[in-house]
Amino acid sequence: MSITPSAPNYARLRHFLTEFSRLVEHFHQEKPLLEKGHPLLSELVRHDDWLPAAAAVPHPQHYQQHLLYADPQGRFSVVSFVWGPGQQTPIHNHGVWGMIGMLRGAEHSQFYAKVKGKWVAEGEATTLNPGEIATVSPNAQDVHQVSNAFTDRVSISIHVYGANIGAVHRRVFTPNGSDKPFISGYSSAFIPNIWDLSKEGGI
Ligand code: FE2
Repeated sequence: MSITPSAPNYARLRHFLTEFSRLVEHFHQEKPLLEKGHPLLSELVRHDDWLPAAAAVPHPQHYQQHLLYADPQGRFSVVSFVWGPGQQTPIHNHGVWGMIGMLRGAEHSQFYAKVKGKWVAEGEATTLNPGEIATVSPNAQDVHQVSNAFTDRVSISIHVYGANIGAVHRRVFTPNGSDKPFISGYSSAFIPNIWDLSKEGGI
């Protein structure tokens, strides 16, 4: 007898989006917004039963950035980062605030600071484990390099940014101090459909 896996609990993601949309209506400053948003993202990534399968797909060569939601007014976006075994980013910035919630596996992050024209590691690398949250911001630490903590399995983190992050003009850096612009875009052509409530009894 085969067991049918239960459907993802999209209600968790819808609840997060509803509540985060309320926050960006009321809090326009980064500090209070992140303070209020932190527990919401914490609650979302505390459970690993809601991520649409299409947003959990890795790529053999590159980490993936699957868009889950983009606020129509550009106030925030939510992206599923899927790390294949051993994959990592270049050193990069964000240009807007970001909150990273670990959903599955683990990732390492190393912040960088520019010293005498070169990018050097700032502080110890940190490891983000499931349920934990990290932040980036141009007002604090915004330049880092991130990697899958595992070389033998996929890791997934959920990122919330203070803009339509796939459209933001950003930069990647090399340790010797050179840099180049990039706009990340998104890995998928379609956003997973979490809004069909017909099988959940409608509203
Ligand atoms: Fe980043």
